[in-house]
Amino acid sequence: MSAPPRPVNLALLGCGTVGGGVIRLLHENSAYLATRVGAPLAVRRVLVRDLDKDRVPECDRSLLTTNPDDVLNDPEIDLVVEVMGGEQPAFDYLRRAIDAKKGVVTANKMLLATRGPELLGLAVDRGVDLAFEASVGGGIPIVRTLREAFTSDWVERLYGIVNGTCNYILSRMREEGLPFDEVLRDAQAKGYAEADPTLDVDGHDAAHKLVVLAMLAFGARVAHDRVPTEGIRGVDAIDHRFAERFGFVVKHLAIGRELGDRVELRVHPALVSQKSVLANVSGVLNAIFVEGRALGPCLLSGRGAGDMPTAVSVVADIVDVARSKLAGSAGRSTRGISIADRPLASLDDIETRYYLRFTVKDEPGVLAHIAGALGQHQVSIEQMVQDGRATDDGLPVSVVMITHRAREAGLRRAMAEIERESWVVAPPRLLRIEEV
Ligand code: NAP
Ligand code: HSE
Repeated sequence: MSAPPRPVNLALLGCGTVGGGVIRLLHENSAYLATRVGAPLAVRRVLVRDLDKDRVPECDRSLLTTNPDDVLNDPEIDLVVEVMGGEQPAFDYLRRAIDAKKGVVTANKMLLATRGPELLGLAVDRGVDLAFEASVGGGIPIVRTLREAFTSDWVERLYGIVNGTCNYILSRMREEGLPFDEVLRDAQAKGYAEADPTLDVDGHDAAHKLVVLAMLAFGARVAHDRVPTEGIRGVDAIDHRFAERFGFVVKHLAIGRELGDRVELRVHPALVSQKSVLANVSGVLNAIFVEGRALGPCLLSGRGAGDMPTAVSVVADIVDVARSKLAGSAGRSTRGISIADRPLASLDDIETRYYLRFTVKDEPGVLAHIAGALGQHQVSIEQMVQDGRATDDGLPVSVVMITHRAREAGLRRAMAEIERESWVVAPPRLLRIEEV
């Protein structure tokens, strides 16, 4: 009888929400995973900050350490799973792991968006794998889809609802007519939103994820702070009501388009038709719509966060990296990711339809003035409503317009001119309308 295969030895950096889920899934599916890999997967070390904190019951506390050297200097560890978050010290730990020729799995979109190309380069040089399925869309297999399934095609465009917190807040504002602040407070109380919600509601988390998607979809190496990014704080309950009247839904989108000589990347709230495949992706769900040149449209949707959905992606990566190591082909899938600097399209050059909301004094000539300023900059109005009032109470009114397709540079010049007028009571609201 031949000796049982040596286990693949794993170490986790972090054992919080995702790390706990990973340990549980490895434990629950251990026999099945061993057959998929061809050897058992054994967790040997778990790096944390606080040895006394509660952990999932499946976590063997004797494996906990606060010393990164216990993981990074141990030659017996084959594979390092980074689920701690943040740029540092995560970057240094993964650099050391790669240098020591350990396979690496990470769920850390912030790290990938800031130092991803560097880590990929190091992994290729050292002939090891760097896998990151969980970094975008939690449990949705979008990274694999772009890396493997789209290898025979070109991605023309993609639209992602990639931040569950934003989607949850916008969904509840729309369904219950509640203001942003109230829904955010409730989401924090329920644990759906972080105590510091900045990364999520100001769009940075979605921008990090878009940078990761752009590497795979467009082969683009883009600094995340160059991606035009807007969050959802500026969307009012009234915008949801007007959007509905015109047949739209407001969604927070990460958008990427292949323009040949440039790539267009942007993150912002936008109107999509109520008939769009993205319109009914509600609550904390995520979805990514990808259009391939030959394939046409393709939609992946599911749970974009949470311990177990995210663990599914992390453990799938562990299986892949372990298998290629055992097969002697470590680093093969990482070498297949090819990225280069690519110019970004300017927001000025976008051409789309727009939703515009003006809060103005109800005076003669106001509408004519708005229409005139837009017309002078080649922006044509498709539809318009003004909230009717029964009495002349002197209160400002909302004038909402949907434009025909227009170039953003002209539209912004017109908006700046309008905003200077004395009858404008509050900054105008501009939302792009996306055909998806
Ligand atoms: P978390 O619950 O805050 O857990 C972080 C873990 O890392 C904790 O166990 C913490 O130790 C440990 N840690 C943090 N800094 C450390 C340091 N300097 N040294 C040692 N240990 C350290 O975070 P999470 O929600 O699991 O997220 C982990 C990663 O997955 C992040 O990159 C996140 O963006 C990504 N992600 C999360 C989700 C999700 O649904 N949560 C989904 C997709 C991707 P202690 O426990 O001792 O404090
Ligand atoms: N904060 C993220 C979200 C978690 O709200 O979607 C998953 O990346």
